[in-house]
Amino acid sequence: MSRVVVVNGSPRKGWNTDLLLTEAAKGAESKGAEIQKFDLYSLEKYTGCVSCFGCKREAHRGECVIRDGLKPVLDAIDGADGLIMGAPNYFGDLSAQFKTFYERLVFPELTYNVENICCNKHRIPVLLVMTSNAPDTMYTSLLENYKNTLEKFIGPTKVLVSGETLQVKDYSKFDWTMFDGDQRHKRREMVFPKELEYAYALGESLLD
Ligand SMILES: Cc1cc2nc3c(=O)[nH]c(=O)nc-3n(C[C@H](O)[C@H](O)[C@H](O)COP(=O)(O)O)c2cc1C
Repeated sequence: MSRVVVVNGSPRKGWNTDLLLTEAAKGAESKGAEIQKFDLYSLEKYTGCVSCFGCKREAHRGECVIRDGLKPVLDAIDGADGLIMGAPNYFGDLSAQFKTFYERLVFPELTYNVENICCNKHRIPVLLVMTSNAPDTMYTSLLENYKNTLEKFIGPTKVLVSGETLQVKDYSKFDWTMFDGDQRHKRREMVFPKELEYAYALGESLLD
């Protein structure tokens, strides 16, 4: 049986990022994949790459040697058939918790060897999801960078962006003048369901 790992880099379970990831997971599941999901914000404490270069030594080439809360996630990805992961945009990038994970996911595969830059012998398809307050097109180059890096070191990557998300249920409880709560609710009803369908379809075709 094939296995797909899902990594949620949002602290809010059941909100935008998580909903899209869950839908993509259901798509993969519909094709017979077993799903193994991790919520980064619920893990035991973990750090980003500490630049120990353990992963560059012969004994552990391609493997992160840090033993912390992220170890089970990295172990699960190692040997999985696909990876679905995502995060909200925080201050123009993916959430810090996600980036911390991302450093540990990608750096071990980088050899610093010009003849063969990547030592990943088990490339797997990736779906990267990002949600944001800004419209979908705002972070195109950021996502292009992630896609390029992931394709180089992890495997063929598709990206799904959901912008202008519903950030809170009741905008009237806040004095925010940057957003039109009615417009956000309308978008949630009209556009978000289509994005969920797209997430499902991407999950469904992940292992094709
Ligand atoms: C700390 C923080 C920083 C944020 N920074 C940005 C930002 O720079 N650009 C943006 O478009 N949205 C930003 N947002 C909004 C979130 O990306 C957006 O609401 C997202 O859909 C939330 O995902 P969630 O519903 O899965 O938690 C920020 C939200 C928070 C809490």
